[in-house]
Amino acid sequence: MTFFTVYRRVLGLLAPERRIVLWLAAANLVLATLPFLEPLLFGKVVDTLAASGGRAPADVWADAIVLLGIWGLVGVGGIVANMLVALHADRLAHRNRLAAMRNFFEHVLQLSVAFHTRTHSGRLLKIMLQGSDHLFGLWLAFFREHLATFVSLIVLLPLALWLNWRLGLLLVGLIVVFCSLTVFVVRRAEAAQTEVESQHSELAERTGDALANVLLIQSFVRLAAEVRQLGDVMQRLLAAQFPVLNWWALATILAQSTSTVTVIAIFLLGTALHLEGKASVGEIVMFMGFATLLIGRLEHAMSFVSRLFFQMAAIADFFSVLDARPGVTEKADAIELARAEGTVTFEDVTFAYDPGRPALRDISFSVAPGETVALVGPTGAGKSSTLGLLFRLWDPQSGRITIDGHDIRDLTLESLRRNIGVVFQESALFYRSIAENLRVGRPDATQEEMEAAARAAQAHAFIMRQPAGYETPIGERGVTLSGGERQRLAIARAILKDPPILVLDEATSALDSVTERLVQQALAAVTRGRTTFIIAHRLSTIRDADRILVFEDGRVIEQGPYRELIAADGTFARLVRTQYGAAAVGSAEEPGST
Ligand SMILES: Nc1ncnc2c1ncn2[C@@H]1O[C@H](COP(=O)(O)OP(=O)(O)O)[C@@H](O)[C@H]1O
Ligand SMILES: [Mg+2]
Repeated sequence: MTFFTVYRRVLGLLAPERRIVLWLAAANLVLATLPFLEPLLFGKVVDTLAASGGRAPADVWADAIVLLGIWGLVGVGGIVANMLVALHADRLAHRNRLAAMRNFFEHVLQLSVAFHTRTHSGRLLKIMLQGSDHLFGLWLAFFREHLATFVSLIVLLPLALWLNWRLGLLLVGLIVVFCSLTVFVVRRAEAAQTEVESQHSELAERTGDALANVLLIQSFVRLAAEVRQLGDVMQRLLAAQFPVLNWWALATILAQSTSTVTVIAIFLLGTALHLEGKASVGEIVMFMGFATLLIGRLEHAMSFVSRLFFQMAAIADFFSVLDARPGVTEKADAIELARAEGTVTFEDVTFAYDPGRPALRDISFSVAPGETVALVGPTGAGKSSTLGLLFRLWDPQSGRITIDGHDIRDLTLESLRRNIGVVFQESALFYRSIAENLRVGRPDATQEEMEAAARAAQAHAFIMRQPAGYETPIGERGVTLSGGERQRLAIARAILKDPPILVLDEATSALDSVTERLVQQALAAVTRGRTTFIIAHRLSTIRDADRILVFEDGRVIEQGPYRELIAADGTFARLVRTQYGAAAVGSAEEPGST
């Protein structure tokens, strides 16, 4: 994105507030024009006084009063316009900064898991906060300075040329030098500043990552190393930043010298013209006033271009996140799926995270409503990926998945995901109270319903032992709870959501064997009447399933009920033998937990 595209887009964000923007622009026009009237009036006053010698005092007074009256009006107009800007520009900027943040937040939360896998949350947070701050600053500066500066330059130059074209040309020269300097520096320093910004993001990413892993850092005595690595990033940042600063320093010095030279030139040229009778003293005074104003404006322009320059990369990052499209999209005419019956089919589904390295190949199976299906196989075989496709974390490259005969890509994402409850091995919890965490899938659940779900998940007892029961806040990502407790909350949350399709991805792996047995019993109750997918290693779960899908290397290599698979004496039978001993295959009794 180029400099001006970004600037235009920043201002374009204000489009919904067009009316107030137009008012502010008008006020700016007034503010920009008024200061020019002052040197004009000043020059007139000087000329009136200079020519007063041979005139009647009453005439001189009459002229002076008219001029002073106009001057007074100019002052009042300025105050009114200033008030309008002061009152509304700030409000506008504050309002839109929060709106920009909200849009960013909403947008980012819809982006695909793939996007979030690539992009660290620390980086996103930095982009959001810094981006919206910069937008805020730019909007404010636009209404307080930029616009007035543009208008001044546009109004001032023709006026100056009209008043005295010889002196006016000097000012034109001044502007040309300023603009060339700015363009030159921006061109030179642009790439370096992008590098600076990427180091800034790196910094945010590293600190965010470290803060999220304090336990890891302390237990592995990583403090010194982490701080040192942060120092390295800072070194790189400064190394990239310093050359840019040099360019701008050079530009500032040159700009200031140009201003001084211009003022001196006006004085010299003015004196010469005056001696030749081509300019009055008033005109020269007026011009000095103009030149000072113009130089002030140009310096403003230069400083805001440089400020915008330093913020450009951060704002461009902000926009590029906004431009990222969700990997999984909803069709315009997507169907709203009411409560599903729970028939799920996979038809020749092939899927790869990275092109050319398929994680799943030709997966086909069909599950009837209420059936419980166990997915077994070694780590990395594709079990989680298969279930991720079911609620559209990703879309397969080929093949299709249907629920009750609907291709899931034809359903609204909301209704698809409302019909599926998920419990992962790593239970994600909000930094909020237990009750809020339980209600995420069903915000309107009553206290009784919530407690019933917690009881079913064997969680009620430990929740009641917390200092404030259901209202107890749990630490970031649930750090105040044990792994088993977090897991039971996640299960209770899924039970409370009461979906027709349930996905349990190693949901009970974090539990001790006693609790696991209890939760398994609870799960047996909640899986009844629901289509359930269980990824589990525990033999009892596998054995109780209506059907078993055996995964290996991204394929389903065997499927059928437990007894059939054992009787077939294939991969599954071998797996059970090595994991649970030969006895497990034959006997009905379950061996000790793994
Ligand atoms: N987000 C991801 N990005 C890239 N590759 C992934 C991702 N998640 C899993 N994989 C890869 O896909 C394959 C299947 O993984 P997964 O479905 O998690 O296996 P399982 O659940 O059976 O252990 C593995 O090779 C794994 O490395
Ligand atoms: Mg897995």
